[in-house]
Amino acid sequence: MTDPTDALRAALSHDVQSRLQSLRLAEGTAIVVLDAAGLDADERGELEAGVKAALAGQPGVRDVRIALTADKVRRRIIAVGSGKGGVGKSTVSANLAVALARMGRKVGLVDADIYGPSQPRLMGSEGIKPAARDNKMIPVPNRWGVPVLSMGQLIEPDKAIAWRGPMAGNALGQLIDAHWGDIDLLVVDLPPGTGDVQLTMLQRHKPDGAVIVSTPQDLALIDARRAMQLFEVGQVPVIGMVENMAGYVCPHCGEVSDPFGSGGAEAAAAELGHAFLGRIPLDLAIRQASDAGTPPAAGEGPQAQAFAALATKVAAWLDAGPER
Ligand SMILES: Nc1ncnc2c1ncn2[C@@H]1O[C@H](COP(=O)(O)OP(=O)(O)OP(=O)(O)O)[C@@H](O)[C@H]1O
Ligand SMILES: [Mg+2]
Repeated sequence: MTDPTDALRAALSHDVQSRLQSLRLAEGTAIVVLDAAGLDADERGELEAGVKAALAGQPGVRDVRIALTADKVRRRIIAVGSGKGGVGKSTVSANLAVALARMGRKVGLVDADIYGPSQPRLMGSEGIKPAARDNKMIPVPNRWGVPVLSMGQLIEPDKAIAWRGPMAGNALGQLIDAHWGDIDLLVVDLPPGTGDVQLTMLQRHKPDGAVIVSTPQDLALIDARRAMQLFEVGQVPVIGMVENMAGYVCPHCGEVSDPFGSGGAEAAAAELGHAFLGRIPLDLAIRQASDAGTPPAAGEGPQAQAFAALATKVAAWLDAGPER
């Protein structure tokens, strides 16, 4: 089943897409709402004329109506953090975002890890530099429907180590305050630990909630507790904890074993009064798909189901509102 508005969206330039708030087709009339923030009268006219020209000849379109708004979309932020490095934060961030997009959410992904940016690789858009308009970046689109901005697109890998304090904070601001268009949810992949980027995140771009990733190992769990405390001190609600690499799926027979133990994250979450959001198994297929730039959450296997279950919990948390 294809949505006829998909073809209409595809007919618009990336520039226009980044301003798109909604697009409907009703009885031959395409109704387009665009965010015209920051544009003067001439530019608004050009934007309108461009959209009319792009849509007028499309199949099923007899008339085009355009509404321009200057309202800022209320955009929510979910931070994905961990105490320890290498526990799968980036993998979880990317696949949570893809799974949310599959559920129909308008979600973007911010890679805030200056020392080891990984989202361009995970999302299959390595080497693509984002364009800019009015001094703001335009997120890089991909076929998973999750536009991405990454520190990796801003800095040369070998210069990363020199990016300390304010520079890192300003770079983070550029990624968050970008042309996200109709995206109303940002998933932010944080660097491990509790450094400058995390502090800037808490002080200037306070997340609406945080997802903490841990492996079942004791050391990772101790660090995860520390990460949760950081968010608590910053008054960011912890959505819950994900146990990653939680049981090894044998690539030959499918049997599941527990090389690092299991259940530790669930127990730690319970002890701290936080929700447990589920387990993602240690699965060779997850690493292979990730390395190939095809997020496993976009597939059909049990890996996709594990991320879909996580996304369902996160979406329920977002929808529950303040009285959760
Ligand atoms: N559930 C999993 N099954 C198999 N491999 C996994 C799984 N989760 C993560 N990996 C692999 O483990 C490695 C580390 O994962 P990832 O980069 O997501 O961790 P991270 O916490 O973001 O690391 P860093 O602290 O360096 O940012 C990657 O090679 C990734 O493909
Ligand atoms: Mg990472």
